Amino acid sequence: MGRAILQGLLSPHVHVATGIRITNRRVEAASDFVTEPRVSAWVTSENPQANREAVRGAKVVIVAVKPGGIAEMLAEVAADLDDDAVVVSVAAGKTLAQLQEAVGAQRAVMRAMPNTPAQIRRGVTGISVGPNVTAAQQKLVESVFATVGSVVVVDEERLNALTAISGSGPAYVFYLIEQWEQAARQQGFTQAEAALLVRETVRGAAELVIASGEQPEELRRRVTSPNGTTERAIATLEQAHLSGLLESAMQAAMARAAEIAAGD
Ligand SMILES: NC(=O)c1ccc[n+]([C@@H]2O[C@H](COP(=O)([O-])OP(=O)(O)OC[C@H]3O[C@@H](n4cnc5c(N)ncnc54)[C@H](OP(=O)(O)O)[C@@H]3O)[C@@H](O)[C@H]2O)c1
Repeated sequence: MGRAILQGLLSPHVHVATGIRITNRRVEAASDFVTEPRVSAWVTSENPQANREAVRGAKVVIVAVKPGGIAEMLAEVAADLDDDAVVVSVAAGKTLAQLQEAVGAQRAVMRAMPNTPAQIRRGVTGISVGPNVTAAQQKLVESVFATVGSVVVVDEERLNALTAISGSGPAYVFYLIEQWEQAARQQGFTQAEAALLVRETVRGAAELVIASGEQPEELRRRVTSPNGTTERAIATLEQAHLSGLLESAMQAAMARAAEIAAGD
């Protein structure tokens, strides 16, 4: 995820006034950026002080390690943060209160929940803002995530739900594509044909619902002739209670976010 955000910051139209610093543990992970003049890449296995040095003077510090590593990482760098730095965690589940505890009560902290289409700048990022964050800091962080797609600001109470919708959401769509392609293969299509049919249908439908501005129900109604083939297929999905299934999947993701917050 850190790499996706970095790619956004390296977009041709984006200018980062004070430069970009990244850290990794392994040399290989940072090696792609060694020759990139806009990026200073430091590796903790070569320089144990890399994280501390990287945050000094930074106005925005994005922490994109696994949730279990967040507290340790923030404790490591807390004393080196600038007074007017804003710390942004992209870790699922870790709360603003936990971030605040790790860096100090007076610091500006935010949570961001991007999703993997950020890799192609088609992400959607939910952002929650801690109490010490200034309007200018919030705007700056929003502009960082706007380089990889859309940004939505939500109260923290809704961030776990947002994580279950858009953070995990690409996986739901990929899973649907997998299953749908398998179903197409059962009908005698090759994998290449199945992939073309299903992926272009997903792309076309997603682009149509966005470009037309119509409600999905209305677009669905137009494909669904009374007593036609689509009507039968949709009835089967309804009988399988697809909406209840999605609701259960999201509840499960939210329950897991609560477990992560509790330190599991
Ligand atoms: N994947 C998603 O869809 C998604 C979406 C939203 C949010 N997130 C959140 O993003 C975070 C990262 O997820 P990911 O899938 O990108 O994980 P990942 O691929 O494991 O990336 C973690 C990165 O952090 C680096 N790192 C770990 N510990 C470090 C340390 N002590 N000092 C310096 N660098 C360190 C790793 O470097 P090395 O490779 O060198 O070890 C690696 O580059 C998680 O908290 C996750 O909840 C993920």
